[in-house]
Amino acid sequence: MDNPFIYRAYQSKELFCDRQKELQKLIENALSGADTTLIAQRRIGKTGLIYRLFDEIKTEGIPLTPIYIDIFATRSLEDLVKVLSEAILSEFPEQTSIGKRFSKFIRSLRPMISYDPLTSAPQLQLTMQTQQEKEQTLGQLLTFLDTQDTHVLLAIDEFQQIRNYPENNVEALLRTHIQRLNNVTFLFCGSKRHLMLDIFSSERNPFYRSTEFLALDKISADAYAEFIQQKFRQADIDIDTEAVNYILDWTRRHTYFTQRLCHTVFNMAEKSVNVDFVKQAAAGILQSDTIVFNQYQQILTAGQWDFLIAVAKEGEARQITSQKFLQKYKLGNASSVNRMVKSLIEKDLLNEDTENGKPVYSLNDVFLSRWLASKY
Ligand SMILES: Nc1ncnc2c1ncn2[C@@H]1O[C@H](COP(=O)(O)OP(=O)(O)OP(=O)(O)O)[C@@H](O)[C@H]1O
Ligand SMILES: [Mg+2]
Repeated sequence: MDNPFIYRAYQSKELFCDRQKELQKLIENALSGADTTLIAQRRIGKTGLIYRLFDEIKTEGIPLTPIYIDIFATRSLEDLVKVLSEAILSEFPEQTSIGKRFSKFIRSLRPMISYDPLTSAPQLQLTMQTQQEKEQTLGQLLTFLDTQDTHVLLAIDEFQQIRNYPENNVEALLRTHIQRLNNVTFLFCGSKRHLMLDIFSSERNPFYRSTEFLALDKISADAYAEFIQQKFRQADIDIDTEAVNYILDWTRRHTYFTQRLCHTVFNMAEKSVNVDFVKQAAAGILQSDTIVFNQYQQILTAGQWDFLIAVAKEGEARQITSQKFLQKYKLGNASSVNRMVKSLIEKDLLNEDTENGKPVYSLNDVFLSRWLASKY
């Protein structure tokens, strides 16, 4: 039997745990034309949820045409236009009527079209010269989507990336275009909380309060326990409750890490799994990831490393600039800790959440957190 615990790309509804409420909400918003912003911690399951949503739309025949773009690797408005054109091109093959219209439109941009030899996904090179041309093309692409006889759901993953474009008007430009669309609904997704919140909830910015927020928390302990039990049972492996609880606790129910530990346990398992067996699997993961953890240390200052150790030992750290915390872990003064926090968040190593309006910090990498807490 194939391993049912995946920690790579979305595969199927059967291998996807819960998220029913979020799924319903996203469908409801898309159908009613409400744009949504999905912000959540790294590797908690944002992209997976988008794919799950697209799967649901297709299998249940929900009247929406979903298009997904990931703009993480884009560096400019021109890249954005390119990625969006390619996504439209693969959603509407040339044989379909929309596809015919789209390729006619694309041809007017004098592109070079080639196909990826491995995935046969279309790749475009557009010959846009001026900034004005690029801006126009973006508008035309969106207008194109808006005027087809289908309601489009356009999901833009890693949306905060637009903040890195050299052009500084992309937000305003997009917002202007989006406002005049009737037939396209957006799902903006990202993990850089500060940036996403600034884009969507800061009065100064064009997208200010233009979308509905959807928070993606951890999967509930009950739902995840049930899912894990069921997948083992289906493979005739008996896993006891204590072992399941240990998995959820040790990985802090952080989806990627829970999936990975389950994957490893499943691979090693024969007839039954108890808590000692899980502990062995967990130790094995930490051992094999040590090489990655050492890599982290190389890119950090000694102070940053010490700070990570402190947060790892706490699990969730609060009041990190209080005298108590600074002294307990010998971290120097508050302002240097503030600088470290900023830098570690930028490096994606540290996660900042809020609880009753106050910040709570944890390591993004649960395994690194476990490793540091046990080693130091
Ligand atoms: N509900 C779920 N059930 C089972 N596996 C899931 C679920 N959600 C996500 N996963 C798996 O967990 C891993 C991490 O999820 P995903 O890549 O969607 O997270 P993300 O929030 O988009 O991360 P990043 O911030 O790195 O983009 C993936 O392998 C995904 O398949
Ligand atoms: Mg993602």
